[in-house]
Amino acid sequence: MKCRVCFAPIHPFMTFGKMPIANAFLEPADIRVEYFYELAPAVCEKCGMFQLMEQPDPKRMFHDNYAFYTGTSKGMDKHFSDWAHSLPVKGKSVVEIGCNDGTFLKHLERNGAITIGVEPSANVAKVAKQNGHIINRFFNGIVVEELRAQIVDADYILAANVVCHIPNINDFAGNVARLLADDGKFIFEEPYLNDMLRKTAFDQIYDEHVFMFNASTVQYAFGQHGLKLIDCEPQPTHGGSMRYTLAHKGHPSLRAAATIESEIESSRGGPYAAFYARCENKRDKLHQVFNQIQPWKTVAGYGATSKSTTVLNYCGLGIQHVNYICDTTPGKQGKLSPGAHIPIRPHSDFVKSYPDYAILFAWNHAKEIMAKEKFPGKWITYVPEVGVS
Ligand code: TYD
Ligand code: ZN
Repeated sequence: MKCRVCFAPIHPFMTFGKMPIANAFLEPADIRVEYFYELAPAVCEKCGMFQLMEQPDPKRMFHDNYAFYTGTSKGMDKHFSDWAHSLPVKGKSVVEIGCNDGTFLKHLERNGAITIGVEPSANVAKVAKQNGHIINRFFNGIVVEELRAQIVDADYILAANVVCHIPNINDFAGNVARLLADDGKFIFEEPYLNDMLRKTAFDQIYDEHVFMFNASTVQYAFGQHGLKLIDCEPQPTHGGSMRYTLAHKGHPSLRAAATIESEIESSRGGPYAAFYARCENKRDKLHQVFNQIQPWKTVAGYGATSKSTTVLNYCGLGIQHVNYICDTTPGKQGKLSPGAHIPIRPHSDFVKSYPDYAILFAWNHAKEIMAKEKFPGKWITYVPEVGVS
């Protein structure tokens, strides 16, 4: 297998074993035909890119029934509102790649931008269409030509939690460079590799995240296509993200240069063997927690996140450990979790009859959840450490 960025040979540093698609919530009748692949991450020795060895076909992941709607989280809505208001987009042409249900576009338009969204999943694109102009396709060379016919070039190209989903990063970077105006900016944010390592948040590793970026690897990958990293700014979303700003011209800002420096420092001595050991340790500790409470207690999962699929399947947790998972997304309710086949129930069931314990799968929304829940039981958490409180 070759690195998707620089084509040097890559080898996995660990494996999570066979995994289902993280967002493929299923009906009981579909268990027989459930799809599995080997989830094994690798780090390229030449360019440093963190990536998955094997990734399912994107059509299996971003299809007409994509389970995730950005607008379901109040915190994310505010995040996109703040971001839109921080950009001088009035009268500018803005393309959002992977616009999901149009949450960000809506705020950009309110701020005076002329927007076009690109979104491959039909169900979420349909919601976005209520807010503006949407192209319901994967972002590729043909779509770029269509966009160029409409707007010539883009003053801003924006993307949130999308770029790490795209396996052909060279094609993607070339397309962005072609669409971006000479003085335009390409700004995107993604879960940050170094936060994941620091918190041992191994549940960020799943099929959709074919890459985990940091400033150094973003600079390398997009630099190959003439785009320069000019800034980066940490974000609290998705448990620790980074927002990268790239342009045709320019130099890294002081904070971007400092971030790159800190990444070089923290990669000395090869951190991945230690990360692997910490993952195994976390898995053992979670089992110790469940060994003390099961089969006597009721346990709910809180949030049927994609991340929970990695936790449940890697740790070998099933319905005998976690009796059900509550989630506010209607499309997930009534279905079973991928691989572990734990039933997903509406959030109202959680409140109606509180369980003894709740394992916080949506830990990236902890602040929002803790502020609104009056849960009388105990929370089981595992990021950054395993704990019961
Ligand atoms: P998300 O943050 O997107 O995580 P991932 O990228 O791992 O899927 O998903 C959060 C899930 O949690 C989503 O299905 C909605 C659900 N959720 C609740 O059920 N209640 C809440 O209060 C929040 C914030 C999220
Ligand atoms: Zn490489």
